Amino acid sequence: MRKSAKVIVPIIGFLLLLMVLGIGLLYNTILDITGFGWKSQNMLKMPDLLEDLNSDPNITEYQLNVQEGQTEFIDGKLADTMGYNSSYLGPVLRFTKGQQTNITVNNNLDTSTTIHWHGLLVDGEQDGGPMQGIQANQSWSPNFIVDQPAATLWYHPHFIGTSANQVYYGLAGLIYIEDQLSKSLNLPDIYGKNDIPLVIQDRNFNNDGSLDYRTSMMGVVPGEEIIINGTIKPYLNIGNEKIRLRILNASNSENFNLSLSNNMGFLMIGSDGGLLNKPLSKKFLNLAPGERAEIIVDFGNVEKNSLALYNYNEKILEFKIEDRLDNSPDISANLAEISEIPIENNPIRRVFELESMGIEGTINGKIYDMDRIDEEVRKNESEVWVVRNLGGMMQTGGHPFHVHGTQFQIISRDGKIPPPEERGFKDTAFVEVGEEVLLRVIFKYSGIFMYHCHILEHEDNGMMGQFRVQ
Ligand code: C2O
Ligand code: CU
Ligand code: CU
Repeated sequence: MRKSAKVIVPIIGFLLLLMVLGIGLLYNTILDITGFGWKSQNMLKMPDLLEDLNSDPNITEYQLNVQEGQTEFIDGKLADTMGYNSSYLGPVLRFTKGQQTNITVNNNLDTSTTIHWHGLLVDGEQDGGPMQGIQANQSWSPNFIVDQPAATLWYHPHFIGTSANQVYYGLAGLIYIEDQLSKSLNLPDIYGKNDIPLVIQDRNFNNDGSLDYRTSMMGVVPGEEIIINGTIKPYLNIGNEKIRLRILNASNSENFNLSLSNNMGFLMIGSDGGLLNKPLSKKFLNLAPGERAEIIVDFGNVEKNSLALYNYNEKILEFKIEDRLDNSPDISANLAEISEIPIENNPIRRVFELESMGIEGTINGKIYDMDRIDEEVRKNESEVWVVRNLGGMMQTGGHPFHVHGTQFQIISRDGKIPPPEERGFKDTAFVEVGEEVLLRVIFKYSGIFMYHCHILEHEDNGMMGQFRVQ
């Protein structure tokens, strides 16, 4: 062999190797983008239904233990996590309208936490905001009468500066409120069979299977995996019938855009605060952190195992359809009666200007101060809240603006009436950069409450204010 060939042969070999690697990478990217490479591996976990400890049918009594644990997200590997009565996430709490509800929360962590009932209408002292801190090894016993329509709410920590971390490691759970109407509508309501909770979160994992929570100056590092009810690459066995999905975006900061494969549509029946007035035919569902939706998917005519749930163009859940006779009733054409929150002449108008820079943010130029009341509000008097997102340096996205102690209505977005899916009751409204959203709010309970951005890192860094209702 000549001298030059000795050099050229390995070079050609090396180039060939690069090509093969390149094609491999490209192939994987294509698989990722199209979702073909995604294989479901794990049966979707179902949170437990929490047992009512009181036999009196008019009193509900629950016990929640906030604890550390280990969770096997990836086969054979354990991650340190937190949960309520379990190692990751918490059980579903069922409330019935009109019922006395007593809860004991035991904090078994070695750090402080709180437990906030997101979307629930109760006095400030029962709300579980930063004022109701529960120190390590202490308990908190809130009690209240549930007095609001059927809805899917949730609970999560709200301590100062640590909410993002505690939620990321697993502290979150669902609350279902039922009432006369929701029971009479013939909606699918068999838990885990045709009434399925989907707590959706983005997460990053280290090679050893542990959770990898990362933030940078710019904000939160989005998770490469979408997990549902704490399950990576889940599948769900269901019958060929109408299935109700109760969906919560429990991510720290990511927005979801959900859809079904095959361009299949679904009916949206509920938003944050309860049922809509009519089922709404949709193909896409946008959910910002903190927001919920209830939808009905009709698997009656779907070919076996041909349906999946997508977030943007990534598959996040596969449905495995078992034959079962579909005799599920039609969804009623009328759901809840939604009357407008009455607005008096010259209502009080309050302006909330949101600004942020990377992971920090302010509302009306201020960061949260527990010792400062930002707004004084009169009980039972409706108001108009004007929420503006002024953007800010290094600010790329919108803010989900959340208000405690109320279920509000969206009057307008940049002067236009909101889309139909936002005409029911809401407790969180996404506000885009440059956008102005008007809310019709009323508070029926007294005490100190919060309004804040539900990007948890923004909240922890002070993008939150306090108001007193009396
Ligand atoms: Cu979901 Cu102030 O919280
Ligand atoms: Cu809340
Ligand atoms: Cu924000």
